[in-house]
Amino acid sequence: MRVLGIETSCDETAVSVVEDGRRILSNVIASQVEMHARYGGVVPEVASRQHVLEMVPALEEALGRAGLDWGGLDAIAVTNGPGLAGALLVGVNTAKALALSTGLPLMGINHLEGHVYANWLEDADPESECGFPLMCLIASGGHTDLLLMEDHGRYTLLGRTRDDAAGEAFDKAARILGLGFPGGPEVQRAAQDATGEMSLPRAWMRGTHDFSFSGLKTAILHAARKEGIYPPQEDTPPDARLVREMAYAFQMSVADVMAVKTLEAAHKHGARGVMLGGGVAANAMLRQVLREKSTLPVFIPSPRLCTDNGAMIASCAYFRSSQGVGDGWDMDVYPSLHLG
Ligand code: KG4
Ligand code: ZN
Repeated sequence: MRVLGIETSCDETAVSVVEDGRRILSNVIASQVEMHARYGGVVPEVASRQHVLEMVPALEEALGRAGLDWGGLDAIAVTNGPGLAGALLVGVNTAKALALSTGLPLMGINHLEGHVYANWLEDADPESECGFPLMCLIASGGHTDLLLMEDHGRYTLLGRTRDDAAGEAFDKAARILGLGFPGGPEVQRAAQDATGEMSLPRAWMRGTHDFSFSGLKTAILHAARKEGIYPPQEDTPPDARLVREMAYAFQMSVADVMAVKTLEAAHKHGARGVMLGGGVAANAMLRQVLREKSTLPVFIPSPRLCTDNGAMIASCAYFRSSQGVGDGWDMDVYPSLHLG
């Protein structure tokens, strides 16, 4: 079964063709990052308009690279939440138009569940290697959710952030340190040659599976103020060594808490393996810390499949379709959709 997956929930116009849920035939991602970097964050109206411009070229490229025409597809899948309403509408209306004109089935996919399925797109297969239940941490720009995946399509939400999402915290920390947007990759780059001499607090939220990153954000803000890094000085560039050490300390604090709490939950709930997903799962330190600490098998998609893409949407649709899930013309967008 070949599924076309469309993803426009935020700032990537992404279209992919995936065969049988696991084999990527094409994966086109038109990123708007440079456009939004000028504003220091994603501007919803700009994102929607850019999806309108990028959508048809992305569709043509995805089909072309897969070596297929419309007759070679079996279903059209699209992210219908959560995300920016205007951005989601572009993808959903495109998918409806395609389903109407080709007669193919239409499937609305939860973006967060898509991030889970990025774990099925490479060599490893969490289901056959471990089996359910699997513990899954989805950490993106808008979410930090700890989910117990009991089967395909069956999730229990065990914990979530009480304030900022992990990716949002990275983006804010980068702004405080005078680094670029998006913050995650910039903080990671800045932290590369740090010695690790500085440390920042960790919010453990003991007795719960929840997370909190706002205290850490305040801590890095105070440290940056004390060292004269924030607010930025027009004529004096910030001390590169201090920025490096603060970026490292911030990243270590986030990675440590996320890894420890994910493993705690995994053991408590009898998970057979641990999976990561979402843009923050691209973080090298988080990947390393989780792998070092875990006694359970760990699955983490390649960095390019952690951030938003259409392949994860197509993969999720394949696994959902075997359960007979499909949508009609009344399918809407759900900006606050959750999972579990
Ligand atoms: O999943 P994603 O691409 O989009 C959303 O669904 O939100 O996640 C984007 C988030 C951004 O906040 C970005 O800063 C963060 O993922 N991110 C990273 C890294 N790459 C992207 N955070 C930490 N380290 C990275 N290498
Ligand atoms: Zn995402």
